[in-house]
Amino acid sequence: MERNEKRVLVAAVVLLLIFFGGLGYAYRSYGVRIPSCVTDIRPFDEGTIIQRGEKDFEVQMVARMWAFEPKEVILPPGSKVTLYLSTADVVHGMQVLGTNVNLMAIPGTVNLAEVTFDQEGEFPVVCHEYCGRNHQNMAGKFIIREGATLEPPVSAEEHVAGMEALFEDYACLLCHTLDASDEEMAPTLKGLFGKSRTLTDGTTVMADEAYLRDAILDPEKHVVEGYDPMPEGDDIPEAEFEAMMDALRQLGEQE
Ligand code: CUA
Repeated sequence: MERNEKRVLVAAVVLLLIFFGGLGYAYRSYGVRIPSCVTDIRPFDEGTIIQRGEKDFEVQMVARMWAFEPKEVILPPGSKVTLYLSTADVVHGMQVLGTNVNLMAIPGTVNLAEVTFDQEGEFPVVCHEYCGRNHQNMAGKFIIREGATLEPPVSAEEHVAGMEALFEDYACLLCHTLDASDEEMAPTLKGLFGKSRTLTDGTTVMADEAYLRDAILDPEKHVVEGYDPMPEGDDIPEAEFEAMMDALRQLGEQE
């Protein structure tokens, strides 16, 4: 090894030791702690709208592949909104068109913006940081209209009952349809349950509950002929998973 190379290597190791030494010193002498992830704890793990005053709202916005939660925020004109933005997965951007709000959603952090909506109208929310296959479809909306009030929060049961909302929530409907209107990106979910599926390796399987479970949780396991594997999804709580299975069963019987 050349002498200069050696010097550089030694310098790099020495610098590293100084940095780690500094960290250790700060940890012991000053009680400095490396910040932990704040975005997987309440309240920043869930999209929520809170009313603080008559026209004073707090919106905890969660960006995830590939949706904003809450997707629509409907408020009356004159609303002052304190916006907290976090991400459940990768880096996203968030711009509220027609306002000055332009934030990054960075894993582990919460970003803050304040905005007052004086005018009625719709203010689209777009993701402006490339975040994967459906980045271009990642959008939401602020809707400002006279007389809008905060709807009461939806209970978990009601939430699960809404078949379409459920598939919407897990971004299934970005590729799949519930009415067989489009099968270009992915097979429709209508009539799927109980049908035989041909896979890329030529084998066929029955689309029963076990198959659908694999298809959602382990998309690479069976890939249906003519389609790309589904992207890995979010963790789905068992109750919602069961509700999705019920919905698929019903949709299967529709044909
Ligand atoms: Cu999220 Cu692009």
